[in-house]
Amino acid sequence: MATRSADEIFKEFKEHSVAEFFKRNRQMLGYSGKVRSLVTAVHEYVTNSLDACEEAGILPSIYVKVEQTGEDRYRVIVGDNGPGIPQNFAGKALATILSGTKFNRYMQQRGQQGIGAAGCTMFAQITTGKPIHFKSGTGNGKAYECNISIDTLKNKPIVENMTPITEDFHGSEVAAEFGDVKYENSDKSVYEYLRRTALSNPHLELRFVDPTGAESTFVRATDQIPQKPKAAQPHPLGMTINDLLDMAKVSANNKISAFLTESFSRFSQNKLSEVKGIATGVDFDKAPKYMTWADAEAIIKAIKEVKWIAPDASFIIPIGKAQVEVAVKNILNPDFMSVVERKPQVFRGGVPFIVEAAVAFGGQAGRSSDDGQRGSLMRFANRVPLLYDAGSCAITEAVRNLQWKRYGLDMETQPVSVFVNVSSVYIPYSGVGKEAIAQEEEIMFEIRLAVMDALRGVQRYVSGRKQASHEMSRYKLIMRYTSQLASDLSDMSDKDKEAIEKNLRELVEMHYPKVRDTLNGKESDEGAEEDGEYTGNVEDSTGQEGS
Ligand SMILES: Nc1ncnc2c1ncn2[C@@H]1O[C@H](COP(=O)(O)OP(=O)(O)O)[C@@H](O)[C@H]1O
Ligand SMILES: [Mg+2]
Repeated sequence: MATRSADEIFKEFKEHSVAEFFKRNRQMLGYSGKVRSLVTAVHEYVTNSLDACEEAGILPSIYVKVEQTGEDRYRVIVGDNGPGIPQNFAGKALATILSGTKFNRYMQQRGQQGIGAAGCTMFAQITTGKPIHFKSGTGNGKAYECNISIDTLKNKPIVENMTPITEDFHGSEVAAEFGDVKYENSDKSVYEYLRRTALSNPHLELRFVDPTGAESTFVRATDQIPQKPKAAQPHPLGMTINDLLDMAKVSANNKISAFLTESFSRFSQNKLSEVKGIATGVDFDKAPKYMTWADAEAIIKAIKEVKWIAPDASFIIPIGKAQVEVAVKNILNPDFMSVVERKPQVFRGGVPFIVEAAVAFGGQAGRSSDDGQRGSLMRFANRVPLLYDAGSCAITEAVRNLQWKRYGLDMETQPVSVFVNVSSVYIPYSGVGKEAIAQEEEIMFEIRLAVMDALRGVQRYVSGRKQASHEMSRYKLIMRYTSQLASDLSDMSDKDKEAIEKNLRELVEMHYPKVRDTLNGKESDEGAEEDGEYTGNVEDSTGQEGS
């Protein structure tokens, strides 16, 4: 057998760009399966629009249009009224993988890796050979449009036909054509993705035109703009040796001691002394850039031995109980709902998070399948709907073994929607596709408590409903006999039948005041009903354990 030397073999040594890598591993970015790929593209653009509006403090109005241009080929247009992208950044933002304004921030935003937009450009290009079209205005009278593609070998943008536009345009609009995609109406579709986005973003006004030209509008349910995300400092307990070293290398501080107290939350002078007392082998006066692995290891070990104040959760922005109620009412219009917002908790020792849960019953809640109504679980991470990879997600796993029947519910046959949103500066996704939350024990525990709490609210309603319909049938049964009884009594006593019947009816009504009120058109708290038709009385749980 002929042998080859290392020199010969290494003549073929090559380097790849990150863009080349993702081109070959597009499923890692969510581009696998035709239906899912289309949802992924819409998701990337819509989350960018929402992030941009939030950061700029603008109430978002987003427009999404999906047009069919051929077999398995669709054009996606997403427009927003956000801050826009300055002309000289357009190429980098939309056609350089791993670039963006959110990279390496410790801040609650939907995007964080700088992969989304350029991933879309690349997917458009590899399936149609076409660049994307981009139009933007930053509000200073300067607007432009251009075509953008990506040089995958170099991971560099190619910007062509840059043209100024006179139109007074504020915001961004991308138009990208994709092949190997498909529009479908299902619970994993673009429509469902947008409906859930509207649900978790009640401040959003969203217009959608589907490939048949049908238009849906999700109206804004509140004018309250969510708080602007703030950059947070990491808590010492959430750090690994490697994280600490990475941060030390780029620190501008002169001393490790100052680097620690200035870069982390809760790292007071007192805590510094305690850590110094334990990590005695470390020189805290040297510059952080000279920190060694052994130094970092000793510091992390000391950190674990010190008692810390819990991380500051004020920079986590949940949707908020009142806003979830408004949103659920707006989109699902249920007969009943129960909403719970839990207090901040911590996972991996130092990363704070907040869980919100809602259970809605009736109205547009649940989903219809071929064999009738069913319950549906809606998962969200930082308000972003998660449609895929349900099986591996912490949310699915946390509610998997809940005893729904104990709460009077049946997910197999009833119109129930269970909504769970996990908010954090750092969501531990279980894959690059970001469709499932990793099964961290603390997170799953919180989700379970939140959903159980919401279920208790529903249980009160369901049992009230059962009670009410029971009373109603007794009432009707007894009333049926009053007329006969009145005429018998009248025969025996020679008294007026009408008067006797009136008295009898009053007696029965006195025994069933709730039924009487319902029949008189007065809504009672329990929501009594006639003929099984419940008329929209929305009540929430007091969420005692939840707040
Ligand atoms: N609609 C938009 N409005 C303003 N800026 C945008 C918009 N879309 C993308 N950007 C900018 O492009 C950058 C890259 O986006 P993306 O690749 O999706 O990464 P990420 O969202 O993770 O930062 C964003 O960080 C943002 O600065
Ligand atoms: Mg993004």
